[in-house]
Amino acid sequence: MGKYIIAGNWKMNKLPSETYDFVKEVAAKVSNASCEVVCCTPYVCLAPAVEAAKGTNVKIGAENLHFEDKGAFTGEVSADMLADLGVEYVIIGHSERRQYFAETDETVNLKTKKALSKGLVPIVCVGESLEQREAGVTMDLISMQVKKAFIGIDAADAAKVVIAYEPIWAIGTGKTATAEQAEEVCAGIRAVIAGLYGDDTAKAVTIQYGGSMNAGNAAELLAKPNIDGGLIGGASLKSEDFSVIVGAAK
Ligand code: PGA
Repeated sequence: MGKYIIAGNWKMNKLPSETYDFVKEVAAKVSNASCEVVCCTPYVCLAPAVEAAKGTNVKIGAENLHFEDKGAFTGEVSADMLADLGVEYVIIGHSERRQYFAETDETVNLKTKKALSKGLVPIVCVGESLEQREAGVTMDLISMQVKKAFIGIDAADAAKVVIAYEPIWAIGTGKTATAEQAEEVCAGIRAVIAGLYGDDTAKAVTIQYGGSMNAGNAAELLAKPNIDGGLIGGASLKSEDFSVIVGAAK
């Protein structure tokens, strides 16, 4: 439906000194990709990543940003700083940031608006815990997370947002959602967007699945009609695995 995007989320892995060669390695393996390929790296790896990605079809993303433009926010990084480096994507509201760094639906919304206003593509993460899934409130929760992320965003901007559905119980656990479970929620997310903005915007939005996606299970997940790509953690750290996933996105 939306544009196909496979994005790696390196999390807190790889050194700045390893980054240039690794991005070059990825780029060499995905040069024939039929989808958009993104490597989201730690802040300190962004400069060498952008340098390595020049002249290739790999785009570079950050894993977070601050929602203010500048000022007394020690340790934070602004959208302008990212854009100035040549960064094009930014992950917002990953469950690890929600869990460990007090990210809320409100800050996710502020960051999403800021990213859009500076020309960065936000990859907004949503997802339920195992407890929430077992309690049967998955779609209620996801719908709330999506609606809050999009407060104050018009249809033209909404169409540019990437939504990553990442069930928390599937992240880094080796427990992938079944393709049916993932499709069900991704279809539900598209319906929420359709409710907010209409069918055209819902069709334009890219909806990724993330959570233990790997070279072995990517094809089945990516074959589903409402799954337009993946946000890949562990498997994005190995260029071979990552390129197999990219190859599965047709
Ligand atoms: P994983 O992480 O692929 O290692 O499960 C996905 C993510 O958290 O984005």
